[in-house]
Amino acid sequence: MKNIAVFASGSGSNFQAILEVVQEGKLEANISLLVCDKPGAYVIERANVASIPAFVFFPKDYPSKTDYETEIALLLKEKNVDLIVLAGYMRLIGSTLLKEYEGRIVNIHPSLLPAFPGKDAIGQALAAKANWSGVTIHFVDEGMDTGPIIVQERVRIAENETHESLQRKIQVIEHKLYPEILQMLMTREEVETR
Ligand code: GRF
Repeated sequence: MKNIAVFASGSGSNFQAILEVVQEGKLEANISLLVCDKPGAYVIERANVASIPAFVFFPKDYPSKTDYETEIALLLKEKNVDLIVLAGYMRLIGSTLLKEYEGRIVNIHPSLLPAFPGKDAIGQALAAKANWSGVTIHFVDEGMDTGPIIVQERVRIAENETHESLQRKIQVIEHKLYPEILQMLMTREEVETR
């Protein structure tokens, strides 16, 4: 069974969706660790309820990204983590983790990349009066939402769409698609602790 670490900064509805399929046995993986850069984020509560260990940190307590990523990398090694799953982690991954986990970090983003990268992709799509948006799952590289795309699913933006309604539609897709793609990745040999 492979080990995954979920990185999140917010409410953690994707974390919850992944946790539930793991608990149902539909995703053959252990969630070995939650990494959270926002003390107080609701995702920490979700991890506590499920007895999943959490590493919660304040980036500002460290001199640099290299310093906190070195600490995270040690924890990941200790727990034999095979795959890093970003689920609303609002921070760029730095060279320390990218080197250790090359090709083994995935992210989910609420738009059809390369359209609307970065923060508030839903707001960006609405402001652009786009007819379509969607969900992208991709491998992570050093850029902002730029790595190789694994899968995308589109969502129609209705005329009277609000931020909330579009977010709801997108999250319904995310919660189904992310676990499916993770299960697919679990069967790949490249996703193996080195
Ligand atoms: C998701 O929409 C994801 O696509 C984006 O951040 C959001 C996280 O939501 N990267 P949640 O914390 O999983 O509810």
